[in-house]
Amino acid sequence: MALFERSRRTTDEDYLAANDAATRALSVTAVETDFVAGVYGKLASVYDIVFGPTLHAGRLQALQRMAISPGDRILEVGVGTGLNLTLYPKDCQITGIDLSDSMLEKAHERVAKHELEHVSLWQMDATSIAFPDDSYDIVYAPYLISVVPDPVAVVREMRRVCRPGGRIIVLNHFRSSGTILSAIERAISPFTVHIGFKSDLDLPAFLAQAELTPVSIEKVNIPPIWSLVTCIKD
Ligand SMILES: C[S@@+](CC[C@H](N)C(=O)[O-])C[C@H]1O[C@@H](n2cnc3c(N)ncnc32)[C@H](O)[C@@H]1O
Repeated sequence: MALFERSRRTTDEDYLAANDAATRALSVTAVETDFVAGVYGKLASVYDIVFGPTLHAGRLQALQRMAISPGDRILEVGVGTGLNLTLYPKDCQITGIDLSDSMLEKAHERVAKHELEHVSLWQMDATSIAFPDDSYDIVYAPYLISVVPDPVAVVREMRRVCRPGGRIIVLNHFRSSGTILSAIERAISPFTVHIGFKSDLDLPAFLAQAELTPVSIEKVNIPPIWSLVTCIKD
């Protein structure tokens, strides 16, 4: 009887936790798209210095998880100044989209400097991607998801444009599971948005609400407080 009661309580707790993840707020901080565009308009000139080398290990690991084949069509969502663009093999087709003209201007300079003829760049909001369903083999969002007002809407679009069996890859910082660090990340989130990201995005709630079932979640960068989430579209 005691065993039965404990197991029933555990099941109820599991159910409530799962239910809560499906509905709870992803962050204590709300942002608007215009605000985000303004932040990146100001950050563009220093972005590569501040966020280049520090976050690069995660970018390299994401490239491995893509398992790119010749001819693959890859969509990079939130391409920014194009820090990933020289990493892709030249025998695939890369499309980069970004909200910010200033960030894209830097990306265009990089494309010209490195003669990246397999890359095309578009100014576009990730919540409304102007490409057809199933049109990419790999859809990748590096360091984007904690920046946007509605991460779930972005993933919905990423899934739509990815072909069945293709890869959806999210590289991002999410709130830590440790009590103290997580409390700090929540407290500073209203301030970190001014340097381009919410520090307290809730990974389990994000996965539940975006209906993503990853094939792997790896910790990346140093310190390893960023996550590389790899999914396959059904
Ligand atoms: C942290 S940067 C990441 C840049 C690059 N992917 C990297 O690896 O460093 C986030 C980028 O997402 C872009 N962004 C923010 N909101 C967006 C949206 N709704 N649609 C498209 N891009 C967006 C920003 O303009 C910025 O360039």
